[in-house]
Amino acid sequence: MFNFHKDHRSLAFAAFIVFAGLSMLIAVLPAYQMQKTSPLPGMKEMTEAQKKGLSVYVSENCMACHTQQVRNIEMDNVWGERPSVASDYYYTKMRPDIWRQSPSLLGSERTGPDLSNVGRRQPGREWHLLHLYNPRIVVQGSVMPAYPWLFTEKDPSQLGPDDIVVPVPEKYLKHKDRKVVATQEVMDLVAYLQALKQVDLPGTEGPGFIPSSRVKEPSGEKGAAALPDGEALYMQTCAACHQADGKGVPGAFPPLAGSPVVNDENYETFIRIILLGYDARAEYGVMPGFAGQLADEEIAAIVNHERSSWGNKAAPISPEDVKRIRDYAMQLNP
Ligand code: HEC
Ligand code: HEC
Repeated sequence: MFNFHKDHRSLAFAAFIVFAGLSMLIAVLPAYQMQKTSPLPGMKEMTEAQKKGLSVYVSENCMACHTQQVRNIEMDNVWGERPSVASDYYYTKMRPDIWRQSPSLLGSERTGPDLSNVGRRQPGREWHLLHLYNPRIVVQGSVMPAYPWLFTEKDPSQLGPDDIVVPVPEKYLKHKDRKVVATQEVMDLVAYLQALKQVDLPGTEGPGFIPSSRVKEPSGEKGAAALPDGEALYMQTCAACHQADGKGVPGAFPPLAGSPVVNDENYETFIRIILLGYDARAEYGVMPGFAGQLADEEIAAIVNHERSSWGNKAAPISPEDVKRIRDYAMQLNP
């Protein structure tokens, strides 16, 4: 019937049918399916600042090293509470502009950690600012490039009331007599990074952000043995700022090794700081609160780890102690 050698019309026709069929299959159908995704309940639209931050993220090409897709495989469990679904991209699926497509945001290189849920892992503004100014300040041996052009330097006498001074330790300053000030660009970028949080799927509960695989099996003994792994939780939640060795970062994050708060027999202040965050001293940055993120058992495990590491020696506490202080603190700060 088809004689492609003789009948050029049927050749052109067959080529067109194949072309149209494949176009349907690889472009039109997926696009149609994408139109049908809806936002998850609890998802928020991006603010103007976050949208601008997304543009900075794209123009600095952070996708070269960071993905934003948690795959449904075991090695990705550390990057999110659950595998990514299409609805996760509902708001970012809008193109930044007509020339750029958002799918490239998903990235394919995993030189650095996946950022789908980084807003929960790294909530602190100061941490992000220091990390972007020079990653080595907060993560020793990091291979991530520094982005000093997202900051300006100012003479202390020129500082205005709205200037956000980044607590860069002296060792990393180019000009020791000047202050590093965050630009609007980097503030937008940080707003975007802080907003990268996985939203619960309908019908599942709570942040549940620490994969249950990290919870140690009770070893049969009673008492403290049933707590989650405090060291793993500390590394996951606190070490970014206070560092793995508990020494902190001078001028930004205080040391927990030898800290009077950590070693105090009365643990109330300590637990309140973890629950509600802390911003008491000008010489340090701001610590975010973890009340919505850590369960009583997890806080008890972290507290006990900190009270027994880096030369600290203080008595352990129990989840009931945390609960009592949480109930009280939450009444005052709902
Ligand atoms: C050359 C590769 C590379 C580029 C480019 C890069 N990063 Fe990174 N990034 C890394 C690596 C490696 C780490 C892990 C070590 C660290 O935390 O510094 C990391 C860590 C991070 C973290 C902390 C993640 C976590 O789970 O704690 C954030 C946030 C981040 N990068 C943001 C950015 C942003 C924003 C940009 C663009 C302005 C960027 N990165 C560009 C390699 C890169
Ligand atoms: C984003 C960075 C950041 C993270 C993450 C963080 N902290 Fe902090 N922490 C700070 C800063 C900054 C201060 C000092 C605030 C001030 O004094 O104004 C602080 C202060 C403290 C103090 C008081 C220490 C002292 O001697 O005054 C304790 C205790 C503490 N943090 C425990 C924790 C624990 C436990 C975690 C993990 C659950 C944690 N922090 C996570 C930034 C952070």
